[in-house]
Amino acid sequence: MDEQLAARAAAAIMPTYGRQPVHFVRGEGAHLFDAAGRRYVDCMAGISMINVGHCHPRVVEAIQRQAGQLINVSNLYYTEPQIQLAEWITANSFGEKVFFCNSGAEAAEGALKLSRKAGEGTRTEVVALDDGFHGRTFGALSLTGQPGKQEPFLPLVSGVHHVDRDDVEGLEMAVNERTCAIFLEIVQGEIGVKPVSDALIRRARELADETGALLVIDEIQTGLARTGPLFAYEDAGIRPDVMCLAKSLGGGVPIGAVVAAPEYADVLQPGDHGSTFAGSPLACAAGLAACEVLADPALQEHVRAMGRRLLDGLEALVADGLAAEARGRGLMCAIDLEKMQAEQCVSGLLAEGFLGNNTSARTVRFLPPLVIGQDDIDALLDALRRVLTALG
Ligand SMILES: Cc1ncc(COP(=O)(O)O)c(C=O)c1O
Repeated sequence: MDEQLAARAAAAIMPTYGRQPVHFVRGEGAHLFDAAGRRYVDCMAGISMINVGHCHPRVVEAIQRQAGQLINVSNLYYTEPQIQLAEWITANSFGEKVFFCNSGAEAAEGALKLSRKAGEGTRTEVVALDDGFHGRTFGALSLTGQPGKQEPFLPLVSGVHHVDRDDVEGLEMAVNERTCAIFLEIVQGEIGVKPVSDALIRRARELADETGALLVIDEIQTGLARTGPLFAYEDAGIRPDVMCLAKSLGGGVPIGAVVAAPEYADVLQPGDHGSTFAGSPLACAAGLAACEVLADPALQEHVRAMGRRLLDGLEALVADGLAAEARGRGLMCAIDLEKMQAEQCVSGLLAEGFLGNNTSARTVRFLPPLVIGQDDIDALLDALRRVLTALG
């Protein structure tokens, strides 16, 4: 990669990201191309942000059409694409109404404010999970159960309690009449694809019903067919009160959403919350095109089949002593290595032409575009085997 480009980035951009040494200029489906024209298999989908694949023709067409017509006009006025995307979300989920925002963290913030307002001043506490991730803004960071990410920014929003993803008893002790919301992911992605136990998810639903707290499901990473069904809560067999969406909702264009069940659909009233850019015609037109692609049952079946193939392959690496543990739900997979070599593994994969990411010193995560084909999955597994064998 061009060293001058990295130097310009270092000189002009705050150093908040550990970037891989590659400069992408084009994408198509599950493939990316660097400035030298080399092809890579994208096994990250922009951290599950482009489930439809790069430059999906329907998303490109929708963006081009909408960009030539009306890009944004604020929420002081009505626009057709925003209403259409809200109607699509509510027709395809438990939700009755949607608040649009621009990112995952903003969706978590919106859900937190909605929960606090529903708590009418007496319910001010929130229960979330250790290792969970909900974003980097102050409210979202307060929900995020990762002390290392929180410490430099203390004090955060007060009244947030964290319990382990398998600790049903801990959850029972933490939720009470002061709790306005229980925030959960169905699978914790950022920490290395760790599914939350079904027992805890179901108990969370019961406790929310018993105490009047809202059950808020963060589907920012798991949603929109990433795990197979359109939303991961469907497989967990529960109905959320509120759901957070972002990432793939815009087919790559920034957008987020807070989706509320009928009981909570009108909690936020004029003046309570807002965002200038949110729900723009451009983002919503792209989003509607992406969502229509992702709602195809054949694509969801493909996700289950490709996810099974990827997980089987990762498990074979474990069986052969090349890795310690493999986990997966649909096309959301991770592998724990025997040694702290995740960074070297990701670099080795990049050299082979595959993108993955290290969520910790020992864990490598894969979130490919959902349109990825069998040949690319098999090629990834072959490359991973070579890389792990070489690392020893
Ligand atoms: C589950 C979950 N919630 C929230 C977020 C925050 O989303 P954003 O980066 O768009 O703010 C992420 C991002 O990775 C996520 O995975």
